[in-house]
Amino acid sequence: MRKTIICMLALGSQFSLDAQSVRSIVGPGKAINPYQYHIVKKSDFSKAAVSSAHPLASLVGAAMMKKGGNAFDAAIATQLALAVVYPGAGNIGGGGFLLGRKSNGELIGIDYREAAPEKAHRDMYLDKNGNVQLNLSQSGHLASGIPGTVAGLFATMPYAKLPFRELIQPAIDLAEKGFTITEREASSLNSTRESFLKFSTRPTALVKEGKWKAGDTLVQKELAATLRRVQKEGVAGFYAGETAKLIVEEMQRGNGIITLDDLKNYTAKLRNPLEFTYRGHQIISFAPPSSGGILIAQMLKMIEKFPVGSYGFQTAKSVQLMVEAERRAYADRAEFMGDPDFYNVPVKTLTSEEYAQQRMSDYTPDKAGSSATVKAGQIKESEQTTHLSVMDAAGNMVAVTTTLNGGYGSRTVVGGAGFLLNNEMDDFSVKPGVPNMYGAVGGEANAIVPGKRMLSSMTPTLLLKNNKPFVVVGTPGGTTIPTSVYQAIVNLIDFNMNADDAINKPKFHHQWLPDEVMIEKDFNAETKKQLQSMGYKVTERGAIGRTEAIRVLSNGKKETVADKRGDDSVAGFTP
Ligand code: DON
Repeated sequence: MRKTIICMLALGSQFSLDAQSVRSIVGPGKAINPYQYHIVKKSDFSKAAVSSAHPLASLVGAAMMKKGGNAFDAAIATQLALAVVYPGAGNIGGGGFLLGRKSNGELIGIDYREAAPEKAHRDMYLDKNGNVQLNLSQSGHLASGIPGTVAGLFATMPYAKLPFRELIQPAIDLAEKGFTITEREASSLNSTRESFLKFSTRPTALVKEGKWKAGDTLVQKELAATLRRVQKEGVAGFYAGETAKLIVEEMQRGNGIITLDDLKNYTAKLRNPLEFTYRGHQIISFAPPSSGGILIAQMLKMIEKFPVGSYGFQTAKSVQLMVEAERRAYADRAEFMGDPDFYNVPVKTLTSEEYAQQRMSDYTPDKAGSSATVKAGQIKESEQTTHLSVMDAAGNMVAVTTTLNGGYGSRTVVGGAGFLLNNEMDDFSVKPGVPNMYGAVGGEANAIVPGKRMLSSMTPTLLLKNNKPFVVVGTPGGTTIPTSVYQAIVNLIDFNMNADDAINKPKFHHQWLPDEVMIEKDFNAETKKQLQSMGYKVTERGAIGRTEAIRVLSNGKKETVADKRGDDSVAGFTP
């Protein structure tokens, strides 16, 4: 184990994996040292591979596959580890989507998105004059939907091989005995300190006397106790008993509305994955209540008729075409997408070839389109989330995107239970046309209704080539998620890039409203100028997404890459 769970490139990290250390606590043979570890950006593994937002979480996933688990075991254990070592987005107080493909071809979509509590209502974030109070949908107790993650993990168990008690043990150890935090985590905990104090009613392990610094140990005893209840009691260890009581008591102290019944009634749902083709590749992605799968299908279908590869990577010609597809797809998102159990989402039409052609009929090369004139189509048919990509030796593929929504969610830590709650209610349309924290607008399709799941952009995605596993990909990034996945796919297929370039090259984003092209700092300067001269407003912004990808090479090896934009790291083994 010690030799085979490998860390190859230590890119600027001050940590090192030292399997000999007496303090090693996690993993079979105690091979993973949570006090010394590397960030590994890429490696080719011939057997099993994980890419996630944190080195320890990737190592935990790989260790589970090494001891006989499959990609589903790894996905469960990695998510639980992320809930401890990556508290900004890893979670048990949030929700997510798991997309899997078993080696026999069976597709699995598990929706464990948060749901609106029974006491929620359409206008709950409006004051008496009808003005929105985004502070309430974005922070503190009222911002939380009913958490879905623990239900999602148990809904994944039928596809896993190892017992749940083994899958959760590394997370318990990491919480109980602590782990060394990175510089990035230290700085983000420090900058959230005041919010933790403001929105939590009890002391939390995430706040310490003085400032966090790289190399400090984060110990989370209350979280360990919660995880132990889940280990012992299963789903009921979270949705009933002591943990549920602690959640409801926290709600009562902070004017939140989640009740014991809300928790008891929450279930994860199986969803049929969305399937479509792009230039001969089969693409599988998540269906509503995520908008992600529909959006990438729409955008790819809109550009498929054009010879994008010949336009060149990040030329004004290819970017303009891709941006105009983004504009049109996101206009439809605002109008037609929401929880399919509450709103009839016209999936078939939106993702059809004919509709894509019709939407692009007014596309004018070399001239900026306008979101004032490009509206949603005519339908006749009645900055923190985290993603992990896993593949095992048998060919099972799993993509999971999970979130608290904003960084550290509502910043409310459940007193006595040690975990953060989400601020996912903000993903509903709190008032028609009013942008949420990602600038997304919506209306009826995504209005608040008790029990309804808020529209998501999370886009866990799988690609097949000749019906065989090809790519596992996904990313955080709010509304930029579908455009990042779209660009990763175009980079791989149209521009023939390797997985590293496909996810790490500079990205751009357009989401209909606001009517602007957002670009990363290292975006091609000449292309930027040309877009501006076509009439586009181009705005520089911070990093877009943190994509994790695994691509199967022609020699069968798994090219496994972690985004350069964070502490993201890969792990796996060969053989
Ligand atoms: O579900 C969604 O679309 C959002 N709650 C995702 C939030 C997110 O990706 C934040 N990350 N940077």
